[in-house]
Amino acid sequence: MALSLRLPVITDEIEAMAGHHQMLADPFMDFLLDYRPGEPFAAWVERVNAVSLGTHCPEPWLPGEFLFIEAGGVVVGRVWLRHRLDAHMAEYEGHLGYVVLPGFRRRGYASQALAMSSARLHRVGIEIAVVTCDPSNEASIALLEGAGATFERLAVSPTMTRRRYLLATSA
Ligand SMILES: CC(C)(COP(=O)(O)OP(=O)(O)OC[C@H]1O[C@@H](n2cnc3c(N)ncnc32)[C@H](O)[C@@H]1OP(=O)(O)O)[C@@H](O)C(=O)NCCC(=O)NCCS
Repeated sequence: MALSLRLPVITDEIEAMAGHHQMLADPFMDFLLDYRPGEPFAAWVERVNAVSLGTHCPEPWLPGEFLFIEAGGVVVGRVWLRHRLDAHMAEYEGHLGYVVLPGFRRRGYASQALAMSSARLHRVGIEIAVVTCDPSNEASIALLEGAGATFERLAVSPTMTRRRYLLATSA
């Protein structure tokens, strides 16, 4: 099914909030990044789109884009592309985070979103993207290795261990 990456809009509220609540149980990833409990969805949309449009980038955001993955008119996931990294993100998180909502997995959506994200990163000058995941995240490891990313090394801190992959981006 054709898939697109797009900015969140206010009318996504019901699907997006349902996805966010589903993902609260996930050990690896939030769905609506930096969503504050009780915050009006419209306020979150305004904040996140200001980052993606380059107008305002408060912590914990980094310059980049937060985009929903849409398939068949439905929000099935999201990506967070980081165009610039601070030291922590460079070592442990990398240029790209992605989530496909549980009900939409194993349909190739993450693979397609990864390819589209790679092209977007390439367009802003990132030729080798760092992508990381938890060593116990078998789905993400298989996804990245299937997409041709190269395992570089483990990144280890007192509180976390991440597998670092290098992904050659292309337009
Ligand atoms: C990782 C994740 C994004 C994969 O999304 P997806 O849309 O199901 O992935 P795809 O359908 O594109 O799968 C592509 C390949 O990845 C591998 N894969 C995906 N899920 C897998 C799983 N649960 N176990 C093993 N391999 C898996 C398979 O090789 C798959 O190809 P196949 O279906 O032809 O066998 C999804 O499981 C997810 O959102 N997980 C929670 C959030 C997360 O961990 N994000 C990454 C943090 S680093």
